Amino acid sequence: MANTYLFAGASSKMAESAASLLKQQGHSVIGLSTKETHSDYDAFYTLSAYESANFPKIEKPINGLVYFPGTILLKPFQRFTEEDFMTDFKINTLGAAAFIQTYLTNLKGSDNASIVLISSVAARAGMPFHSSIAMAKGALEALGRSLAAELAPGIRVNCIAPSLTNTKLAEKFLNSPEKLDASQKRNPLKKVGEASDLANAIEFLLSEKAAWITGQCMAVDGGMSTLKLM
Ligand SMILES: NC(=O)c1ccc[n+]([C@@H]2O[C@H](COP(=O)([O-])OP(=O)(O)OC[C@H]3O[C@@H](n4cnc5c(N)ncnc54)[C@H](OP(=O)(O)O)[C@@H]3O)[C@@H](O)[C@H]2O)c1
Repeated sequence: MANTYLFAGASSKMAESAASLLKQQGHSVIGLSTKETHSDYDAFYTLSAYESANFPKIEKPINGLVYFPGTILLKPFQRFTEEDFMTDFKINTLGAAAFIQTYLTNLKGSDNASIVLISSVAARAGMPFHSSIAMAKGALEALGRSLAAELAPGIRVNCIAPSLTNTKLAEKFLNSPEKLDASQKRNPLKKVGEASDLANAIEFLLSEKAAWITGQCMAVDGGMSTLKLM
């Protein structure tokens, strides 16, 4: 059956990869972005920020929502300003809550309605300089679990938590052979993630194959959050 999915943060490389996968399967994907993207979405809206007042009205039924927007501001804890914390929290967390509030009614009536949130390895594994993003993504995961309970049995809600993945967001950590090599060596599977690794997990959580999975956070991270190799 052909479904319709709505992606916030449609310029994300992970979003583009997931949209391409879903479209190959005959589904439609609508994109929302703060940028003009040239990717192949079935419908596309630009907005100035991920805030309630800016989301366009979409009248059609939707089968799944995915919220991609995220940040990666790393600093020693003492150097973070309140504005830094608020920016990270707004983009990663409050934007997701506003997105879901806006489009929840579009999901009602779908047989396999699903919401997927993109967290980070930093929400579970303690990592230096990640305090702001860890707080924001930790709250995002808590939102996901809470909504999974509140929206069951009609709507499933899950998170995906990547570690370092080859996208624009992570460019400054991967933009030389030395940095790439060091990042690959740190990962238990000796590779950084590709957008397609995340797209496969997103497609799975949206699909009927995940019909009995809700309230979970799936680490798609090469083992980074759980394994320590001796
Ligand atoms: N790449 C990694 O290593 C990594 C690791 C852990 C978690 N993640 C998470 O993965 C998700 C997707 O990111 P990506 O890796 O695919 O990176 P990407 O290709 O660089 O995409 C960045 C995403 O963040 C949004 N964004 C960036 N700056 C923004 C701002 N100032 N205001 C509003 N939105 C902004 C973009 O939305 P627009 O479409 O509006 O531009 C886009 O959805 C994020 O939630 C990120 O936190 C990534």
